[in-house]
Amino acid sequence: MAKLNPSFLSLTLLTIFLTIASAHVFFEERFDDGWESRWVTSDWKKDENTAGEWNYTAGKWNGDPNDKGIQTSEDYRFYAISAEFPEFSNKDKTLVFQFSVKHEQKLDCGGGYMKLLSGEVDQKKFGGDTPYSIMFGPDICGYSTKKVHAILTYNGTNKLIKKEVPCETDQLTHVYTFILRPDATYSILIDNVEKQSGSLYSDWDLLPPKTIKDPDAKKPEDWDDKEYIPDPEDKKPEGYDDIPKEITDPDAKKPDDWDDEEDGEWTAPTIPNPEYKGPWKPKKIKNPNYKGKWKAPMIDNPDFKDDPDLYVYPNLKYVGIELWQVKSGTMFDNVLVSDDPEYANKLAEETWGKHKDAEKAAFDEAEKKREEEESKDAPDSDAEDNDDDDTEDDDDADTETKSDSSSGDADKDVHDEL
Ligand SMILES: *[C@@H]1O[C@H](CO)[C@@H](O)[C@H](O)[C@H]1NC(C)=O
Ligand SMILES: *[C@@H]1O[C@H](CO)[C@@H](O)[C@H](O)[C@H]1NC(C)=O
Repeated sequence: MAKLNPSFLSLTLLTIFLTIASAHVFFEERFDDGWESRWVTSDWKKDENTAGEWNYTAGKWNGDPNDKGIQTSEDYRFYAISAEFPEFSNKDKTLVFQFSVKHEQKLDCGGGYMKLLSGEVDQKKFGGDTPYSIMFGPDICGYSTKKVHAILTYNGTNKLIKKEVPCETDQLTHVYTFILRPDATYSILIDNVEKQSGSLYSDWDLLPPKTIKDPDAKKPEDWDDKEYIPDPEDKKPEGYDDIPKEITDPDAKKPDDWDDEEDGEWTAPTIPNPEYKGPWKPKKIKNPNYKGKWKAPMIDNPDFKDDPDLYVYPNLKYVGIELWQVKSGTMFDNVLVSDDPEYANKLAEETWGKHKDAEKAAFDEAEKKREEEESKDAPDSDAEDNDDDDTEDDDDADTETKSDSSSGDADKDVHDEL
């Protein structure tokens, strides 16, 4: 290989250094020793004895027994915990929100999402009603809900992403990343792979639409929207109307014991005429004057007022987890709030990426053991199901996020086009 030009080399190193140096980490939590001093467990639901305990653990299977996170440890419980960081605004900055989550319990109904909160929050009272700015992460319930939530709060209302983003459903660690850019575009990554991307303008209903169908437009009188017309060339075949609807049954025979004197004159029964095709209609042809389905032209929406700060959260200050879990075992780790997707990518690789194969091997081992024990426990009974196949649990507490918004008109328009 050719010798590297030393000035080129130092320039490259400088570039790398600057890239790393420019990354700003607003919050990073790897749940090492001392994490408890940074996180506040809320008193929410404690009165009702439905507040669940967090377990500080590396989990039942892991790629590194020394790498701990926090895990929900009691079934049918609410969980609320949060951590504060120096307040900042993401104006003119890229915002990266990332964490890893593992559902060791084979989650059948429950959330695995986190929140970013703004302003002043009483962390001891943090709960389901505490306003948040962004809610992001996987949510699973039964067979129908297996998706990544990305809820943005704008002007005091929570808006769900309109695109479907499927989440991971296995019992291994996965990294969820939400990136929000100053040009109002976003990306959603799972395990450092982009799963969805687009614009805040189109993928959430934050603002009224930029353009609308002109409400005053009318279909022109001469607009021909009949796709098919009767063929003017087609003529009724001669004698068409003379074909009778019914004919006498040619196979009918006068019964042997028929007595004309007693029974009256025998007449053969009638049957539908196979030649009869109903009243004549000319065949249909494509209308040469067909103009397509009429659609009102789009005009600028007078109610639309652009907000160049659509993506801005001016005082982000907390990261929180607020969940209801039917079955516990969801584990969070490596929480990051940064302005640098590159940094987030590296963090994911260093943590999840480095250990994922060992974790998978540990999981497979644990599964094997579990299966062996089960077959020992119930040697002759297939009917006695293990408790992993729970029936679908209701999750009423989670309905706040279940009010899925319908997809926009764009899809319908595409179909109309066809
Ligand atoms: C915490 O997690 C570990 C590892 O899975 C488990 O052995 C322990 O029983 C858990 N503790 C509680 C209180 O759930
Ligand atoms: C913000 O909310 C207020 C009150 O609900 C409403 O009047 C206003 O139109 C909203 N503005 C936008 C840009 O949605």
